[in-house]
Amino acid sequence: MEIIEDLRRMRSFSSSSRGKGLRVVLVPTMGYLHDGHRELLRTGRQSADLLILSIFVNPAQFGPKEDLGSYPRDMESDLSAARDSEVDVVFAPRREDIYPVGYRTYAEVEGLSDRLCGASRPGHFRGVATVVLKLFNITLPHAAIFGQKDFQQLLIIRKMAEDLNLGVEIIGVDTVREPDGLAMSSRNSYLSAEERKAARCIPASIEEAQREFEKGVRHAPAIVEKVKKVIEMEPLAVIDYIKICDGSTLEDIESMEGGAHLFLAVRVGRARLIDNCPIGLERRPLL
Ligand code: PAJ
Repeated sequence: MEIIEDLRRMRSFSSSSRGKGLRVVLVPTMGYLHDGHRELLRTGRQSADLLILSIFVNPAQFGPKEDLGSYPRDMESDLSAARDSEVDVVFAPRREDIYPVGYRTYAEVEGLSDRLCGASRPGHFRGVATVVLKLFNITLPHAAIFGQKDFQQLLIIRKMAEDLNLGVEIIGVDTVREPDGLAMSSRNSYLSAEERKAARCIPASIEEAQREFEKGVRHAPAIVEKVKKVIEMEPLAVIDYIKICDGSTLEDIESMEGGAHLFLAVRVGRARLIDNCPIGLERRPLL
């Protein structure tokens, strides 16, 4: 396994692999790898000749009061996870090489970036789109893998790839969950034992939404109300948003006749946890 920090070296490595006709697949991450990331790598490995894992905690996607400084990092354990997942190249660029002094250029996907997490975290998706575009330009992938756990992010990256003719296939992977249903996240490490128990209210509230839909409820605000009640029963949980939207435009919807997509952001302690799930007749159970 190669470990590359240097941007030019990464680019020429990918470029020569492409020249030999190899399929290059990128899995972008901010590190502190868990089983969700491993599932992305497993999916990538299936079709890649050259599998690249990028690890970069991207300052441009954190707000001034957010957790950039305390975001969990563990390069040693990430490298061993990468080896286990048969990664060919770990690309771990330096911050000053990605954003040198005087950096001025950003990518913005209008509309999709303003809703849900974009409303709570202004500028977040501009930072995500920018770094992903830069990672694509440096690693030159044929395909890149993203998790549905960050569903809005996946839609935004797909739209950017299409709108800017990037020629990168964007592949989405199902959310990987803990045995009690909580979506895996690097930020789960912020939770105390008591908060971790409290966070169970998030998947429980999604299950409640699914049960309501199965009972025949189709009015989105009524289902949001039920979801809210489940979360509010947990004193350690503070709702950021609960929304039912169209799963492709992310616009709010009222009637869920054709199914819809539920999105939540909930604070537990200092962790801001997000989750989402399609709600419809053909749903799969969370676990
Ligand atoms: P990070 O939070 O490290 O996540 C990296 C990738 O893993 C994302 O595509 C995310 O959706 C996916 N992922 C995280 N938890 C998952 C889970 N429980 N199940 C399935 N996939 C999961 O997302 C980012 O980093 C950054 O915004 C990034 C795209 C790297 C840009 O900086």
